Amino acid sequence: MKLNLNGKVALVTGGARGIGVAICKALAEEGVKVGVNYRKSKDAAEALVAEINSDQYPGAAISIQGNIGAQDDVIPMFDALEKEYGQVDILVNNAAYCPKGPIGAYTKEEWEFTFAVNVTGVFLATQHFVKQLRDKGIKGNVVNLASQAAFLGSTSGHLPYDSSKGALISMTRAVARETAPDGIRVNAIAPGMVMTEMVAELWEQKKDFYLSRIPMGRIAEPEEIANMVVFLASDASSFMTGTTLDATGGLMMR
Ligand SMILES: NC(=O)c1ccc[n+]([C@@H]2O[C@H](COP(=O)([O-])OP(=O)(O)OC[C@H]3O[C@@H](n4cnc5c(N)ncnc54)[C@H](OP(=O)(O)O)[C@@H]3O)[C@@H](O)[C@H]2O)c1
Repeated sequence: MKLNLNGKVALVTGGARGIGVAICKALAEEGVKVGVNYRKSKDAAEALVAEINSDQYPGAAISIQGNIGAQDDVIPMFDALEKEYGQVDILVNNAAYCPKGPIGAYTKEEWEFTFAVNVTGVFLATQHFVKQLRDKGIKGNVVNLASQAAFLGSTSGHLPYDSSKGALISMTRAVARETAPDGIRVNAIAPGMVMTEMVAELWEQKKDFYLSRIPMGRIAEPEEIANMVVFLASDASSFMTGTTLDATGGLMMR
């Protein structure tokens, strides 16, 4: 299978932790030059960059600080990556914020903050990326990390997050439809539960409950989601755009 990823340049938001780490490594294994965006996790980002820049990987990496939810941070993230490696070819919108609580507990500010990161941040990054590609007349790929929670909701109280992921799936389709004629593909992944810090506490509290719902009888490792990102970012998925790939161990079958 020809992935045709060697030498490409990718920005991975929230790349220093959880699924983001696995995505950065999987892309670097295919020879991609990766911008590892982080907001707070500087040490983790720098450790990951050092690992990727070792002889183990054909790709390369730099770390890029930036809050995806802050408009002024978004374009400088692309500029930093472009200055180092040239035009960005792949945007992986992976960063997300996931507060917890019942519907009555959320403030308007918490709702808006969740959407600022999970929806508006993705919009701003995608808008800039698409503009650059169109201006230069080149093709590119966007991969959005959504969630099965967009379709099923949550049993543990994540209303703003679930709603934001629904918006992200709609955004994936809308941008894909508009940019398909430009050779820009936009796809999403809807993972079920994946072993990261985002779910660690819930997993410890309700492990048996979660396992009872998943036909495969386990949750995912971050690498399993990263493999799907590589597929969607590569020529192996060349006729796919606007899709949302489910990876839920059978929890959600559509
Ligand atoms: N884990 C799951 O079960 C699961 C299931 C379905 C979907 N997903 C989706 O998969 C993606 C990755 O999830 P994960 O489990 O790896 O999450 P995680 O372990 O909680 O990590 C979240 C990441 O997002 C970054 N981030 C948060 N706010 C940011 C901001 N404003 N600007 C830049 N970066 C920001 C964090 O960076 P800093 O540490 O630097 O702040 C961190 O790297 C998310 O989109 C999530 O919704 C996860």
